[in-house]
Amino acid sequence: MTHITYVEASGEANTFNLPEGWSLMQGATTNGVDGIIGECGGSCACATCHCYVDEARLADLPEASETELAMLEHVASPRKPNSRLACQLKANAKLEGLVVHLPETQE
Ligand code: FES
Repeated sequence: MTHITYVEASGEANTFNLPEGWSLMQGATTNGVDGIIGECGGSCACATCHCYVDEARLADLPEASETELAMLEHVASPRKPNSRLACQLKANAKLEGLVVHLPETQE
């Protein structure tokens, strides 16, 4: 299990314990986090699971694939250096305690 904290644009923060292998998008939608939609179900084809990862933890993340980088071109809120797609980040021990901030809008 991996604790992930989601901070919505409003500032509301919620922490959930995700099973190993769950995507951060799955963890958000399953727990009713408003700031993530996940329209494509996690196939890296919608960019509605955009999140901003705590910059101090970027080195703990797997590199973004070409597909993810291409989809990040289409996010609705500003893309930043710490922008990632939550469906491409899988819960594991390396991500324990990770904080992700959610953008103002996903569409
Ligand atoms: S859920 Fe569609 S790109 Fe992540």
